[in-house]
Amino acid sequence: MASKITPFVFRSAFPPARIASRTQCRSFMASSRLTSDALAVHRDSPENNASIPFNFTEQNNKLVEEILKRYPPQYKKAAVMPLLDLGQRQHGFTSLSVMNEVARLLDMPPMRVYEVATFYTMYNRSPVGKWHLQACTTTPCQLGGCGSDSIVKAISEHLGIKAGETTKDGLFTFVEVECLGACVNAPMVQINDDYYEDLTPESTVALLKALQESANVVETTASSSEVEGGKGALTGDDKNVKSGAEVGKDSGRIYEKDGVKVPSPGPMSGRKTCENIAGLTNLTSEPWGPEVFRKDL
Ligand code: FES
Repeated sequence: MASKITPFVFRSAFPPARIASRTQCRSFMASSRLTSDALAVHRDSPENNASIPFNFTEQNNKLVEEILKRYPPQYKKAAVMPLLDLGQRQHGFTSLSVMNEVARLLDMPPMRVYEVATFYTMYNRSPVGKWHLQACTTTPCQLGGCGSDSIVKAISEHLGIKAGETTKDGLFTFVEVECLGACVNAPMVQINDDYYEDLTPESTVALLKALQESANVVETTASSSEVEGGKGALTGDDKNVKSGAEVGKDSGRIYEKDGVKVPSPGPMSGRKTCENIAGLTNLTSEPWGPEVFRKDL
């Protein structure tokens, strides 16, 4: 009998001891680990501190007015995101001064603006290169086509930088990002505002070379014939790598940037959008209603 009662007496007499003896471990994390490229906090630097003046240009001030007209005056703080975007486009990145100016224009406490700018990864809170390369490395891009690992490797090897870094010439900043919503054209990379899809390591390197060439043209104001044999041109080691123009021709789309032919944004595989590259594989019989087959596919 005593042996049956003793454990009960012990448990009720020393509840704190019982709690202390419990294993103190948590089976899940209450908050996610911070794995972003950017710090969530601001650190003053020579190019980013509150003493650097920032004002919207005259042209952008007109855009600010246009944007503000979209919202009732008492809710003008709803314009915080488009104004931050406009500031980023003008200044090159969302600096502390940009955020403070947006806060002033919208009569918001600056902290409210900082909260928005630090939440969304599209706001670059430190300077980025002329071309901001965002390589998607989420599962569909990792598994689709040649896989994003080979694209990341091609970018890193060609530019000599790792994710989160900027080239010494300030032309390229490279980051890895999560899904950009173009999974069916995997693997893909966003360069500034444009999507380049269905990439291979070869087309990626060719694209980077074309962009480098266009930058060289602007810098040296060299003639296009000089540029073809210049810094951005293909070398003997790269004989398997096509030029940007060749890759663009394969994909059927090229545009001219500063006198250099650069592949147009979109799929680099020759697809128009995200149609099956093997052609129609279902719904192949003649439609019986008023519908007709598209002739352009
Ligand atoms: S997974 Fe890369 S765009 Fe969706």
